[in-house]
Amino acid sequence: MKTPKKLNLANLPTPLEQVTYNGRKFFIKRDDYTGLDFSGNKIRKLEYLLHQAKQSRADIIFTCGGEQSNHCRATASAAARLRIKTRLFLWGKDSTNPEGNLFLSKLYGAEISFLNKKNYLNVNNIMIEEREKLKKQNKNVYVIPEGGSTTLGILGYISFIDELMIQTDLKKTEGILCAAGTGGTAAGMLIGAALNKLKLKVYAVNVLYSKEEIRRKILYLTEGCIADYKLNISIDESNLIILDGYSNEGYKNITGNKLKLINDFARSTGILLDPAYTGKAFCAYNENFLTKGKGRKVIFLHTGGMFGAFAKRKKYVRNM
Ligand SMILES: Cc1ncc(COP(=O)(O)O)c(C=O)c1O
Repeated sequence: MKTPKKLNLANLPTPLEQVTYNGRKFFIKRDDYTGLDFSGNKIRKLEYLLHQAKQSRADIIFTCGGEQSNHCRATASAAARLRIKTRLFLWGKDSTNPEGNLFLSKLYGAEISFLNKKNYLNVNNIMIEEREKLKKQNKNVYVIPEGGSTTLGILGYISFIDELMIQTDLKKTEGILCAAGTGGTAAGMLIGAALNKLKLKVYAVNVLYSKEEIRRKILYLTEGCIADYKLNISIDESNLIILDGYSNEGYKNITGNKLKLINDFARSTGILLDPAYTGKAFCAYNENFLTKGKGRKVIFLHTGGMFGAFAKRKKYVRNM
């Protein structure tokens, strides 16, 4: 595969750490260590997307997500480093006392437009309309869809598999478990595994979309990427397993029981999980693998997101 160029913004490779929790050993791939200000999984996608933005001489980058979006914060931070402006279209409300990712996005100088839930459903059209307005003022806008999950962005999680193969024998690994928001991380890993002829399962814990929607999105992204980059592979759909039911409380909420697990895990291992993604994913990992003694077979992918914990700190404290 002839890979498009990318920027080198993330601290790679991230460590693959052996961790013991409740007497059981397992491996965590620490993508929460990709960098302080753009920590998490998003930067692997942004390395490709922002390279393209730079090539197209973008004056400003548009992207979107929830008000506590890790992707938006990572984009604002990385774009600031490249001296490109950012405008974020966020589902949520402004605050005089912004917390977590919203605070950081403002700190990195992003312009922010807040949208209610109904308008946010139309966010892609809104971004395109705004781009057209700026075009008339000779401004070049580069638009990144939600989560950076485009066929270009997900290349970051194809090369992730090559990185992991150097750290462990993936032929002896049953699968990798991750949180799935827009599905790009899972899609990239499925392609990376197929390119390396691995029978690796991808366990995706849907936190934002329904089981059917996220499956469709992930497979659609894999098909698009295979077509765009003329990859000589096909995806065995049975390798994608959606672990549903770990975000029934809604994307922006988290139950007390999950927070108790996050708190206990932090005290036992010194590893912080976030309330929207990795906390829910770890809950699924614990229930389906760790407590059943299958931790050694499946790697837990820590995709970052810890600034989201600060926005929910009162709830974290209540469940300590
Ligand atoms: C911390 C964190 N983990 C996991 C995900 C899910 O990644 P993806 O959107 O590629 O499914 C996201 C973003 O959506 C995230 O911010």
